[in-house]
Amino acid sequence: MADATDLLDAGERLGAEELRALQLERLRASLRHAYENVPFYRESFDKAGLRPEDCRSLDDLAHFPFTTKADLRSQYPYGMFAVPRERIRRLHASSGTTGLPTVVGYTENDLSMWADMVARSLRAAGARPGDIAHVAYGYGLFTGGLGAHYGAERLGCTVVPASGGMTARQVQLIRDLEPGVIMVTPSYMLTLLDEFERQGVDPRRTSLRVGVFGAEPWTERMRQEIEERFGIDAVDIYGLSEVIGPGVAQECVETKDGLHVWEDHFYPEVVDPITGEVLPEGERGELVFTSLTKEAMPIVRYRTRDLTRLLPGTARVFRRMEKITGRSDDMVILRGVNLFPTQIEEIVLRTPGVAPHFQLRLSREGRMDALTVRAEARPGATPETRQEAARAIAAAVKDGVGVSVDVEIVEPESLERSVGKIRRIVDLRPR
Ligand code: DLL
Repeated sequence: MADATDLLDAGERLGAEELRALQLERLRASLRHAYENVPFYRESFDKAGLRPEDCRSLDDLAHFPFTTKADLRSQYPYGMFAVPRERIRRLHASSGTTGLPTVVGYTENDLSMWADMVARSLRAAGARPGDIAHVAYGYGLFTGGLGAHYGAERLGCTVVPASGGMTARQVQLIRDLEPGVIMVTPSYMLTLLDEFERQGVDPRRTSLRVGVFGAEPWTERMRQEIEERFGIDAVDIYGLSEVIGPGVAQECVETKDGLHVWEDHFYPEVVDPITGEVLPEGERGELVFTSLTKEAMPIVRYRTRDLTRLLPGTARVFRRMEKITGRSDDMVILRGVNLFPTQIEEIVLRTPGVAPHFQLRLSREGRMDALTVRAEARPGATPETRQEAARAIAAAVKDGVGVSVDVEIVEPESLERSVGKIRRIVDLRPR
């Protein structure tokens, strides 16, 4: 196999100073494009008393107003587009569990840039031209399936567009078509794991070599679980539809030390979620993105609600973002203590006798919120093991997170399985 550095594209070969210069040039052009073609941005810049030309350095971006999900909704469906509708080649939309979905659009050039970024991500993950790539992200309005698909084609892979669901067939396809690469949510990978076992096939003996997992938060402990059970490399891919879809940031297989943000196209900032102030590199806060090259829907300082921190580049010149702890929307505040599902994941996955499947049920007792962790027993776990597991999880949450929770160890196979993005929190509190 060629050395990965031989395969880098032009953007990945930039020096740090060249990168900053390119970013500034692209940023200024993108702000101008947004201001001149999207009334929403013209108004918001005008209100802040700013013109695109006022951005003279990358740090000046901090003066510009944020864009939120609510702003995008207020422009539903086409108000954020900066080009005539006829130039839009594709639309995607977020699921919109609450209220209107968010519609995003792509020009021909946007689709091409997106495919390039996913191809770059796959290469960083260890995929190579000629590989067979099994795509089990959902196809459709969700960006996962089609985004992964065209990126894998762009890299020169043979793509199996499996989409999500029909789990038994997924396993059959993997056995028969022998992909080296799989792209899927980490929670659905666990569903596939169960199915391999159900079919009596050793998951360590498949053709799979590398998995590119994203679309939901997952932990180092989950990486370990997947790598051990499947005998593959598991790396993290990040993205969101408002910015482009998958392929905004990617972990390199040789370092597995967080995700390199493809910041020649997507400029990251981390801000204090309360004050909105830009935080210095290394401090945790909310990730904010500004697109540098998008045509159809330039986005300026979009508040992702994803919590992470920026770190210097390692395997690539680009800065890294630490694996995401969670979204501010998924944070549970329990008797004043902030808790993320990822913290529970770490604990459940290292507890003997329980399977890597769990759910968090939020309820209200009197005026107090209560949280019950439901975790599944492994098949064959004795009543004593189950009791011990419940005690160990409760103690670890108390120690590590600082709050008391109830723990129920439920029967094997009793919790709902993921077929895409998993929903960890079931909120039973009266509205
Ligand atoms: O989930 C795009 C995607 C598809 C990324 C496939 C990776 C793989 P949305 O549906 O718009 O887009 O959801 C975006 O999902 O703001 C994060 O909260 C979460 N998310 C995505 N990737 C990761 C990740 C796609 N690697 C939202 N780790 C984002 C943690 C992630 N959370």
